[in-house]
Amino acid sequence: MNFPTTRLRRLRYSPVVRNMVTETKVDLDDLVMPLFAIHGSKVKNPIKSMPGNFQLSVENLVEECKLLSGKGIQSVLLFGIPEHKDDTGMIGAHEHGIISEAIRAIKKALPNMFIIADVCNCEYTSHGHCGTIVNGDVENDSTLETLAAQSIAFANAGVDMIAPSDMMDGRVGKIRESLDEHGFNRIPIMAYSAKYASGFYGPFRDAAGSAPQFGNRATYQMNPANSNEAMREIELDIMEGADIVMVKPALSYLDIIRRAKDSFNIPIAAYNVSGEFAMVKAAAANGWIDEERIVKEILTSIKRAGSDIILTYHAKEFADYLK
Ligand code: PBG
Repeated sequence: MNFPTTRLRRLRYSPVVRNMVTETKVDLDDLVMPLFAIHGSKVKNPIKSMPGNFQLSVENLVEECKLLSGKGIQSVLLFGIPEHKDDTGMIGAHEHGIISEAIRAIKKALPNMFIIADVCNCEYTSHGHCGTIVNGDVENDSTLETLAAQSIAFANAGVDMIAPSDMMDGRVGKIRESLDEHGFNRIPIMAYSAKYASGFYGPFRDAAGSAPQFGNRATYQMNPANSNEAMREIELDIMEGADIVMVKPALSYLDIIRRAKDSFNIPIAAYNVSGEFAMVKAAAANGWIDEERIVKEILTSIKRAGSDIILTYHAKEFADYLK
C-alpha cells in the first residue's frame, strides 16, 4: 500500500503511540558495569582517559558496588591491577590475588551483586601479553593452564560468572572442564568469542596497565576485516560450552552482533569498550554533542543490533538518565 493511503508518520505524532510501538528498549537488567580493582587502602585513582572511572581499592570497590546496586545496576565485571607481575600471569590465580580479594569483599557486603570476572593474563604479565611467551609469541596451550587456574581461584572466591577475554584456542573447553572438575558446574562462561584486535582498547590498557610491551595482539585477537571468521569463533566457543558469547568492541561491529544473533540460538553480549566511551566523553566535554542523548542512542543501537547484554562504562550514568 502506498501514499497517500499509507502514512508512516501517523504513528509518530503522539508520544504515547511512539512509546507503544518502540521496538527496542534498554533497561538496567541488560547492563553490566566494568570496574577496576587495585591493591591498597582508600585508593581511588581517576582514570584520565575514562572520566568517572577509577582504580579502586577493595573497600572503595565495595562502596561503588553499593552505589550501583542502589541505582539498579545488578552486575559488575571485574578487572584487576596486581601488586606484582610475572612471566605467565599465574600471579592472577593467587588465593589472595586482587580479584579474589575483591570478589570476597563484594559478596560479603552485597550477596546479590552478580560478579563477573574477566579472565586473562595481560594484566598480570610483565610483558603485557595475554599469555605465556615462547620464542617471541604467545604460546597457546600452556596459556590455557593459567586461565584455568585463574578461573578456579575466582570460583573459590565466590564469582558468579567467568569471562575469558584472552582469545586462545580451546580456552572455553579447558575452563569448562576445570570448573566442572572442581565442582563448579553451575558457574556460566561468557566467552569473549569475537574479540577484535582493536584500537578502541587504548584507554583500558592505561587503566589496567596492560599494554603489550612489544608487538601487538594480532596473533590472537581477530582481524577487524573478518566476519565469517567471527562466526567460526562463536561456533567453536558454543561447542566448547560457552553459555553466552560476546562481540567486542560493539559500535564498529554492529554487523557482527546482528549476524551472530541471526546465526546462533544463544544469548549475545556486546562490549561497548573504553575507546568508544572515551570518544563520547571527550566530545561531550567540548560541548560538541549531547551526552545523554548520544549514550541512549548508542546503547539502543547495540541492543537493536541483537545484543541481549551490554557491558558498558556508561551503565552508572545511564541508570541516572532513566530516573
Ligand atoms: C583483556 C581485556 C581487554 C579489554 C577487556 N579485557 C584489553 C585488551 O584486550 O587489550 C578491553 C576493554 C575495554 O577497552 O574497555 N585482554
